[in-house]
Amino acid sequence: MDVFNSINDVKAKISSKKLSGQTVGFVPTMGFLHEGHLKLIDQAKEENDVVVLSIFVNPLQFGENEDLDAYPRDEERDLTLAEQHGVDLVFFPTTETMYPQPLSLNISVVRRGDVLCGKSRPGHFEGVVTILTKLFNICQPDRAYFGRKDAQQVAVVDALIEDFNFPIELVAVDTVREADGLAKSSRNVNLSDKEREEAPSIQEALQYGKELIERGKDLPAAVLQKTRQFLENKTRGKIDYIELLSYPELEPLEKIDRQVILAIAVFYERARLIDNVILNEA
Ligand code: PAJ
Repeated sequence: MDVFNSINDVKAKISSKKLSGQTVGFVPTMGFLHEGHLKLIDQAKEENDVVVLSIFVNPLQFGENEDLDAYPRDEERDLTLAEQHGVDLVFFPTTETMYPQPLSLNISVVRRGDVLCGKSRPGHFEGVVTILTKLFNICQPDRAYFGRKDAQQVAVVDALIEDFNFPIELVAVDTVREADGLAKSSRNVNLSDKEREEAPSIQEALQYGKELIERGKDLPAAVLQKTRQFLENKTRGKIDYIELLSYPELEPLEKIDRQVILAIAVFYERARLIDNVILNEA
């Protein structure tokens, strides 16, 4: 496994692989790898000749009062896991490498970005599409792998690829969970014991909401109200949002008559957790 810090070096290596006809699967991450990330890597490994993993905690996608400094990091462990899972190339740049000077341009996300996490984290998806534009240009992947846990990110990246004609196939991978249903997340280490006990209630609330939707008796507002009640009874975390929207457009619904996402975000003391379920999959 080769590890690169320099843009030119990783680009040259990937270009040479592509010239010899090899396909490239790309897994962008912010590190502190867990089984969710590893599932993306494993799937990329199955579907491509070369797997490129990037590890970069992108300051641009963190708001001022967010957890950039508390974001967990463990370089050595990440590299060991990457190697065990057959990653061929790791791109591990510094902030100075990715942002050597203030950007002169920015990309605005004008649809799909102003609801859910985009609403509570202004500028977040602009930061995500900016870093991904840079990483896509550097890593030149044939396929890029993203987790459905971050379903809004999948919807926004889908638009990035479509709008700007990146020759990349977006592959969305199902959420990997702990035994009790909690979605795996690098941020779970920042939960207290009590919060960790309560956190699976996010997934339980999603399942409860899903059943209400499948029963088909409730309008979106009633589903949301009942799901909120259910969750409030099970956790003291502060609910950031519970939303039911069309997917992947992320527009409000009057009736549940197409592919939809039920999504939840909850603030705990030192971590904000998100999860979702997508229904009526096309
Ligand atoms: P990060 O949070 O490290 O996640 C990297 C990828 O792993 C994302 O596509 C995310 O959806 C996926 N992932 C996280 N938890 C998962 C789980 N439990 N099951 C399946 N997949 C999971 O998302 C980012 O980094 C950044 O925004 C990034 C795309 C790297 C841009 O900076």
